[in-house]
Amino acid sequence: MALENTNFIKACYGKNDGSIPIWIMRQAGRYLPEYLEVRSKATFKELCQSPELIAEVVKQPIDRFNLDAAILFSDILTFLDPLGAEVTFPDKGGPKITDPIETPDDIDKLHKFDIEKELHFALDGIKEIKKVLPNKPLIGFAGSPFTISCYLIEGQGSKSFDKPKKFIHQYPDDSARLFELLADITAEYLSTQIDAGADTVQLFGSWDGILSRDDFYEYTVKPANRIFRKLKDKNVPRIMFVNNLAPYVDLVNEIDCEVVGVDYRMDINYAAKVLTNKSVQGNLDPSILFGSPEHVQEKAVKQLESFENLDRLIFNLGHGIQPKTPIESVETLVKTVQNFR
Ligand code: CP3
Repeated sequence: MALENTNFIKACYGKNDGSIPIWIMRQAGRYLPEYLEVRSKATFKELCQSPELIAEVVKQPIDRFNLDAAILFSDILTFLDPLGAEVTFPDKGGPKITDPIETPDDIDKLHKFDIEKELHFALDGIKEIKKVLPNKPLIGFAGSPFTISCYLIEGQGSKSFDKPKKFIHQYPDDSARLFELLADITAEYLSTQIDAGADTVQLFGSWDGILSRDDFYEYTVKPANRIFRKLKDKNVPRIMFVNNLAPYVDLVNEIDCEVVGVDYRMDINYAAKVLTNKSVQGNLDPSILFGSPEHVQEKAVKQLESFENLDRLIFNLGHGIQPKTPIESVETLVKTVQNFR
């Protein structure tokens, strides 16, 4: 594998002896004026479908902050159109599914598809990124099956996602069918991302943290293992991010992956103790970046000093960076982490 000597890839395997790697979830996005500039000329979908624009916005935060990894610009919901569920990204209110899944029959509308053909723009985007950032580890990604099902069934964002939570209990057999389909397509999609040049892949379990422990095992751990086991022989680090990890951290230890992304609610040292033989990624609260640069520095140093095994730490925020985050705070954070050792 290329780039195996970067601090990021070494940290994924718990073997980093250099500076602590840092990247930021949602690092290409609306807090950056240069992103807003590109976005003013293209819709979000047009942006996701243009390999040249993808490469441009992926490079923006790297040029500004010299982060240690780049992440593909796309969305966890872009594969829903070819799957058979139309998705739109209105400027306000978040993504919407035109015809959400309401009954088991609706699952039949979903189907496998030719990824290289239908999602060529993301794969071409990866190749384009590799041309402009040949030496940066590139993170490919997808949504976890439960998080995807949240949008498929609820039809839009929600705080509690009551509809998907009920659906899995109303229709357990059909849910098993749905989750197998989602897991298999996701594995294939991530596999093509790796073949196109992604150096690692992350599964975003952004909403999985609303499940009961039993359901988390069934609808997060099992599908994640189904996905990650299909990627094992690709020999790239596999990252599982769970938003609200704490109630399930012992169950996540059973996921076959190298790195676990930890949200800001949890003590990352405690997570690292439970997650035997895995690296951890996280977990500064994104709202800290709204404080003064001194405050940001103090909080970052406190966290770094408290960390017991720096060789297996990838520094990140504990969730995505928010629009309107002050740029100077991000600069301070990145410098503080990269100069720590
Ligand atoms: O640098 C990056 O990380 C950019 C790539 C990226 C995007 N979405 C671009 C995007 C990634 C990794 C995602 C993942 C994603 N998408 C998640 C999981 C991450 C998380 O935050 O937990 C989720 C839940 C989604 C679904 C989604 N897409 C939502 C809820 C929204 C609306 C967000 C908002 O704040 O309005 C989107 C749209 C979206 N995806 C934007 C970006 C930059 C904003 C679109 C814009 O430019 O107007």
